[in-house]
Formats: sequence, C-alpha cells, structure tokens
Amino acid sequence: MPKSKDVFTVAHRVSEADRVAANRHRGGILWFTGLSGAGKSTLAIELEKALFARRYQVYTLDGDNVRQGLNTDLGFSPADRTENIRRIGEVAALFAEAGFVVVTAFISPYRADRERIRARHPKYFNEVYINASLDVCEARDTKGLYRRARAGELKEFTGISAPYEPPAAAELEVRAGEKSIEACLADLLAFVERRLALK
Ligand code: ADX
Repeated sequence: MPKSKDVFTVAHRVSEADRVAANRHRGGILWFTGLSGAGKSTLAIELEKALFARRYQVYTLDGDNVRQGLNTDLGFSPADRTENIRRIGEVAALFAEAGFVVVTAFISPYRADRERIRARHPKYFNEVYINASLDVCEARDTKGLYRRARAGELKEFTGISAPYEPPAAAELEVRAGEKSIEACLADLLAFVERRLALK
C-alpha cells in the first residue's frame, strides 16, 4: 500500500495486447533462485543472449549489478535481503508489463520473499530453481567467497552462515550442478518458448 492515500492510477494508451502483438511474445519474469555459484548469472546472461538472437525483448537483472545501483543501500541482513528482493520484484514486473522477458539472478534465499512477488504479480512470475548443491558451489568457489565465509571473514553468507530455502514448487528446475551450461540453456529456452512465445 502506498504511504500516501492521495496517489492515483494513470491508464496507458499502449495496451499490453499491443505490445504482445508487436513483440510476438508475452512479457514475463523468469525468477532464478539458487545458491551463490550455482550458475544463476552465467545462465541468465547466456539465456539473454540466446533470446535476443531469437528477436525477444529481453533483459537480465543481476544481484551483483543491482547492488551497485538501485540497491547500494542494502547489505545481507535478512531485512535487507527482503527489501532487495521486494524492489527487484517490482522492477521486474514493470519490465514484464513493458513487454519484456525479464531474467532475474538473485539468490533470493527466503521462500516468503519469492512468494510475495508471486502473489503480487501472478501473471508474470515464474520461479526457476537453479539447483546446484552447496558442495558443488563451494568446490567451484569462483569468487572465493565460500573460502572467506568459512574463514569467518564474511558474515551471513548464504549456505554457510545464512539460510537458503529451496522452492517448494518451482515452475522449472534446472539441475545446474549436474548438467552442462548448454543442456541447462536448452531447458530454459524450451520453457520460454512454451510459456511466453505466441503459438
Ligand atoms: S540476495 O540474498 O539478496 O538475493 P543477491 O543475489 O542480491 O543476494 O547478491 C548475492 C551476491 O552478493 C553473491 O553472488 C555474492 O557475489 C555477493 N555476496 C556478498 N556477500 C554475500 C553474503 N553474505 N551472502 C550472499 N552473497 C553475498
């Protein structure tokens, strides 16, 4: 609910149907969730490239990037993560309304935060579990963050000293711990074509 009661809704004169017809696909959110190092960003960027080549309106919102702009004021406490995810959910829904396929790559560790976005934007929200086990992510440790978390240099690190709550019923599970990037990408592309392309 807005803080002020005195806000109004402005109606657009480019309808959603107009945008869908022009783009030849619906707008929607592919909400990636998974541990740090599971492959969310890599797969989001690859998917963005592949969809763009297929003439999709597509954009990726990535945790590390958004935390350098819109969300510079937020850290990794539970409350800050919740606010991080709330803002991104709203931004993603605006992109989807504008006709885009939005790929979001945030750990989004709390089930309740993800479910809140689903409840607010049911038409657009698709939860995609980028599933790689903690063992796999920690062995990869591409950013060296797991090592630092184990050494106690990084507090509240997801999977080590902060929780990760996996989805109960994601629209799509990508087994990124076991499959190649190419195979994961094929699963994602098939899902987008099934859900968002015009028949
Ligand atoms: S979320 O939990 O709020 O969804 P988000 O996806 O935005 O997290 O940011 C995660 C990225 O921030 C990780 O990929 C990692 O590079 C970095 N990071 C820094 N500190 C932490 C931490 N304590 N826990 C998790 N990720 C962290």
